Amino acid sequence: MQKAGWQSPSNIALVKYWGKHGRQLPNNPSVSFTLNTAATRTFIAWENYNKFGRVELSFTLEGKENPAFAARIEKFLDSLVDEYFPFLKEVTLQIDSSNSFPHSSGIASSASGMSALALCLCEIEQTISGVTVDQDAFTKKASIISRLGSGSACRSIYPEMGLWGHHPDIAHSSDDYAIGIGAEIHPVFKTFHDDILIVSAKEKSVSSTAGHNLMVGNPYAEARYKQANERIITLLTALREGDLVTFGKITEDEALTLHALMMCSDPSYMLMEEGSLAIIKKVKAFRADTNIPLYFTLDAGPNVHLLYPHENELDVRSFITSELKPLCHEGKIIYDHVGQGAQKIM
Ligand code: DP6
Repeated sequence: MQKAGWQSPSNIALVKYWGKHGRQLPNNPSVSFTLNTAATRTFIAWENYNKFGRVELSFTLEGKENPAFAARIEKFLDSLVDEYFPFLKEVTLQIDSSNSFPHSSGIASSASGMSALALCLCEIEQTISGVTVDQDAFTKKASIISRLGSGSACRSIYPEMGLWGHHPDIAHSSDDYAIGIGAEIHPVFKTFHDDILIVSAKEKSVSSTAGHNLMVGNPYAEARYKQANERIITLLTALREGDLVTFGKITEDEALTLHALMMCSDPSYMLMEEGSLAIIKKVKAFRADTNIPLYFTLDAGPNVHLLYPHENELDVRSFITSELKPLCHEGKIIYDHVGQGAQKIM
């Protein structure tokens, strides 16, 4: 058997993707920091043999069989055969994934998991076809396949920051895949921290996919898409200039907008918990008291991401330990930072 292996990180959106159409196409552009520590490692052992002429795979998570994930991956790979990967009917795959973050951390692993899987598949395709495409074409295809698995996953593979979704004023932007924008950002953001405060490790009551669907019929949807298009331009300028105040304002407004959209969906729902709100209030008070540029964001769940420059690490860490850790589920925190994107590990 031959083997392919990739490690791919999670990411945290600053301008959020929320609402989609067609085959995993976003209703507005989004931009994210690529993380480092929260990552998935996936290995695929494969042989050029297939008895049934359809996708054949086994899947283990951390070495243990996981029928629920296996079924989800099989369905996903089935959907790729005709248009993207005809070779999947001719091989048998043994997929094993492991996450750097604990199962019970409440961290969504779809961005890291789907991007690691997509990269392995693109590599196997290249090996089987014997045609080596250039790095850009390889990455673009991996981003497309990641997106089909989970929208936000398409941004994870790039160093430092990814941008996904067409915007008329952003060159090379596309709804089909993300682009890397790390080269355009001010050095202060390249070493930014993202400490993930685990408020709850429970599974979300409403999945992201269901949440995206609830944007259909949300009375604020159109205004929201317009706002995201405007904010992304302002944010990109702040990212280039190292303007922390504008960065922080947009990032926090985006997190609250995302959760406000959930609260005014029909049916309405809430994913923030008491602990999330308590942390947000303390972060705002700490910033007002100290002038330290510490900001929060949220993904589609109760956990709070704390974003701040590397030079403020000591002050922020001691604030987290004394004031915020007691509000976390079992005191759990993942100390992460901006990372270098996906890596080949085999
Ligand atoms: C709030 O990418 O998880 O994290 O495409 O249905 O898999 P699917 O959704 P997903 O949605 C992520 C939503 C978000 C914002 C973001 O990452 O941009």
